[in-house]
Amino acid sequence: MSLFEHILEGVPDSIFAMMEAFAADTNDKKVNLSPGIYRDDNAKTWVLPSVQKAREILVADQNLNHDISPQMGNPDLVSVARQITFKDTLSSRIITSMQTISGTGANHFIARLLSDTLQPKTVWLSNPTWENHPKIWTHVNSAIEQHLYPYYDYRTSTLDIEGMISTLKERASRGDVIILQVCAHNPTGLDPSMEDWETIAEVCEEKGIFPVLDSAYQGFATGDADNDAWAIRHFAARSRGTMEFAVTQSFSKNFGLYGERVGVLHIVTRTRGSAAKAESALKTLSRAEITSAPAFGAKVVATILQDQVLREQWQEDLKTMSGRLRHMRKRLYDELIKRNTPGNWAHLLTDIGMFSYMRLSEDQLAILRNTFHVYLLPSSRLSWTGLTSRNVEYVAESIHKVVTLSM
Ligand SMILES: Cc1ncc(COP(=O)(O)O)c(C=O)c1O
Repeated sequence: MSLFEHILEGVPDSIFAMMEAFAADTNDKKVNLSPGIYRDDNAKTWVLPSVQKAREILVADQNLNHDISPQMGNPDLVSVARQITFKDTLSSRIITSMQTISGTGANHFIARLLSDTLQPKTVWLSNPTWENHPKIWTHVNSAIEQHLYPYYDYRTSTLDIEGMISTLKERASRGDVIILQVCAHNPTGLDPSMEDWETIAEVCEEKGIFPVLDSAYQGFATGDADNDAWAIRHFAARSRGTMEFAVTQSFSKNFGLYGERVGVLHIVTRTRGSAAKAESALKTLSRAEITSAPAFGAKVVATILQDQVLREQWQEDLKTMSGRLRHMRKRLYDELIKRNTPGNWAHLLTDIGMFSYMRLSEDQLAILRNTFHVYLLPSSRLSWTGLTSRNVEYVAESIHKVVTLSM
């Protein structure tokens, strides 16, 4: 008998499952609208020109080696990561920053650290949220309760800010943790306004809730990395800079470095003493779990952000990516309106970033996949990255048929 026979089978991850199903589909009309990975208008993975150039510089460097990074990560990466995240607020706050295995690793490390130190009773997640948030917290400590705060209004496809605020006011306790996505919310594409962010920060402060600001799409939302970091800088500056919080930063999407696993965790503390303790705990954790973070992608990001010309190219690249997605939003919207497809599609134009919620039922999604070979996640999240000028009419026609068929 095998020692592994008693393992309980896990629930397959919907994104990876969908990618496998898509790869096995031999129909030449197939369209993959499920993964959050940027594709160009030919549905091909895009290496950002700024990344291409940085890669060439690194590879041509005779001194490029494969040494291990220091415990807190590649110092150049950590330095530029702090700068693009906090900008003007950097000098006024005490911030401990460590390179992590991308955004997932940053989320994991902060969950582990908070579970050990703050010992929250509850972690609050948006309804809905990135499907890995609950998995990471369950994996770290299944005794921490997970509650959803209202976020997406399923009737109107708008942000339920009143529901969110009143739920937190009524039900959250001092010492709870809240995960807040900074911009281009996954999976809904709905972000709070600046005014909403002020209210959210106020409630966190009043109630003593520890915010983890998950920043996976900086630059993707508006095409401008500064605009997209507004909420973080607001949290850093409010109440004369006394609020403690963490930021989990991913470079997967905004640099197209998905497989390189580049990320940074920032912890903003009130005192130097707590910063030193946080740093020591992170070093212990990192040593036991990963020893050292991956080097190459970190060098790519640092090379770009330290060089004026490459940095400007990167800003152009962000505009190219976010602009293409905005264009596809408009194209699909127009095609649905042209067909008088029943439903409220206005939000497709105002949602932000890679995703939108289509509010299609499980049955409709199954027909879309099995009959038309158009793949969305089971949650009805559509990733705009798979839409191109060549397939947008086919996708609109497929959605139209599925929606009208089931009426
Ligand atoms: C909200 C959110 N947070 C974090 C991540 C982490 O991504 P990665 O580990 O690829 O950097 C993602 C990726 O999809 C995300 O959508």
